Amino acid sequence: MDDDDTTSNDSSNPHLDDHVARGAARRRFLHQTAGAVLIAGAPMLVRTSATFAAARDPSPAPITFQGVAATTADAVTVPPGYTARALFAWGDPISDGPAFADDASNSADDQSRQAGMHHDGMHYFPFPEPRGFARLSSARGLLAVNHEYTDDALLHVGGMTPWTADKVAKSQAAHGVSIVEVEQREGRWQVVRPSPYARRVTAATPIALRGPAAGHPLLQTAADPAGRTVLGTINNCAHGATPWGTYLACEENFNGYFVNPTGDVEGARGPDQKPEILKGQSRYGITKTGFGYRWHEHDPRFDASRTPNEPNRFGYVVEIDPWNPEVPPVKRTALGRMKHEGATCTLAADGRLAVYMGDDERFEYVYKFVTRDRFDRSDRVANRDLLDYGTLYVARFDADGTGTWLPLVQGSGPLTAAAGFPDQASVCVKTRQAADLLGATKMDRPEWIAVHPRTGAVYVTLTNNNQRGASGRPGVDAANPRANNVFGHILRFAERGDDAAATSFRWSIFAQCGDPALGDAAKAGDLTGDIFGSPDGAWFDERGVLWVQTDISTSALNKGDYRNVGNNQMVAIDPSTGTGKRFLVGPRGCEVTGVVTTPDMRTMFVNIQHPGEPDSERNDPARPKAVSSWPDGPAGGRPRSATVVIVKDDGGVIGS
Ligand code: FEO
Ligand code: CA
Ligand code: CA
Ligand code: CA
Repeated sequence: MDDDDTTSNDSSNPHLDDHVARGAARRRFLHQTAGAVLIAGAPMLVRTSATFAAARDPSPAPITFQGVAATTADAVTVPPGYTARALFAWGDPISDGPAFADDASNSADDQSRQAGMHHDGMHYFPFPEPRGFARLSSARGLLAVNHEYTDDALLHVGGMTPWTADKVAKSQAAHGVSIVEVEQREGRWQVVRPSPYARRVTAATPIALRGPAAGHPLLQTAADPAGRTVLGTINNCAHGATPWGTYLACEENFNGYFVNPTGDVEGARGPDQKPEILKGQSRYGITKTGFGYRWHEHDPRFDASRTPNEPNRFGYVVEIDPWNPEVPPVKRTALGRMKHEGATCTLAADGRLAVYMGDDERFEYVYKFVTRDRFDRSDRVANRDLLDYGTLYVARFDADGTGTWLPLVQGSGPLTAAAGFPDQASVCVKTRQAADLLGATKMDRPEWIAVHPRTGAVYVTLTNNNQRGASGRPGVDAANPRANNVFGHILRFAERGDDAAATSFRWSIFAQCGDPALGDAAKAGDLTGDIFGSPDGAWFDERGVLWVQTDISTSALNKGDYRNVGNNQMVAIDPSTGTGKRFLVGPRGCEVTGVVTTPDMRTMFVNIQHPGEPDSERNDPARPKAVSSWPDGPAGGRPRSATVVIVKDDGGVIGS
């Protein structure tokens, strides 16, 4: 489920007129994260400099693989000369724990030591290389994998019938993050078992709340009167990775786990519920029924009428140190509370860290956080709390092709006590309401954000928005130029001075997705190369290839406007031309999400999420293989989300 059915932003802040301007020429450096880089003592920042044509980035080394055709095959299809294999599937032990039972009979305790469900964002943290000139290993690392949500029809024997406390516990254990050690031995990648690094973070793991909102009354509950420790992280969608080798798991559709049966949303209001609390829950999409997880029936903290502050403790970026399994994860409240898609890190010119973030819902915003202090490459511990101090911004995209980062700072502009923001903590908890007051631009569902490794240009996938231009909804604007935007688009911007800490930028539409064969100009798009739609995952490899993954909802897949596009997929895009070539097509009913390579770019990891999901987005427990039996095939018990490892048969760079 990707929350297509929710729209919470009824604020009246302005949107834009038409007209798309071209960005300016630029030059740049920059580099993204590496993982154990500090342990290895290797330099972090890569600087190059060049001047490029307007709104384009340099061409990478040629993308020479033979593109694959759109297909509805129940398989992971990759180009000739490449091999893809499932490496780490839902239910696989993370270390020396229990094996997967393909009748779904594993207990909640088993599940807490196995891969969770619905793999999503992911990063590879390389070990330092023990010998040779390469300093970061491309043959041994830690994989951090998000498990976004569950399909409880597949997760349990009998699905959700009967619905029990044990099943809620198992569902909670199937959420969160896996850290596993992976190694290539004699040419074949495997999960290292046992491994001292193996770790599960689940919806029940104690997590520290830090930053401006920690301890604030808005975060206090009866179970945690100090407001500093929350149980669990949920709906971890995309991710980030810091230069100091930690993982950022982002909480997206947390609202769907909560219900407020006596509360607002559709009108009625319980006697003990304050209007401002209900209004706040409504702005974040908390409804009477939630999304059907039914945790509240056995875990009252997910009943927001009984624990009205519990939802305030979700919707954050969660920092996890994969190298220290004993260190508790931390929710970094300074980065704001929203349906965090991802948290893409890059270094500003002066060494501070900038984090780009999308709030994935129709008509929500694009954000950036810039740390107060600089990244210290020589002292890993000095960076430990870097994400607790800094400035959060939200983006306004103006029609002339310029843009402004609007500071979400209490006391600045309209963010006053009278407006409901007496302190920075309230800005960090009620981030959406603060952004409304600043007049941020309402976007077509911001998903992943990718930063070009040399120019620092920023690419935002805007997956789709079938309510743009609808009655009572915002109309088109320059940054979101299509009504009923069923195919989505990709926006590119360059920070002023090519500095990630800048407060203004120039932007342009990089690509409008679509299918010219539909004969509908509004849906044709302007893609060159292979067609695709609903862009979601986006990541630059070190060559400068933009990898884009799709999340066409299963209700739309392979029919109607999407009849020619095939199963969800991943394309490799040359950012100098915008031309894409289809590299991978996933099995039936899946989403393709999560992509990273080893430092040598000769191994790629990609996640296949919810293979076999039917149009209804919920499986029938009596017929688990009705749509797909990937990856185990007909002999297996049920389809499973999995991390796929891809190598080129000649040992070459992926995408070459
Ligand atoms: Fe979980 Fe916005 O995708
Ligand atoms: Ca998804
Ligand atoms: Ca996503
Ligand atoms: Ca999505």
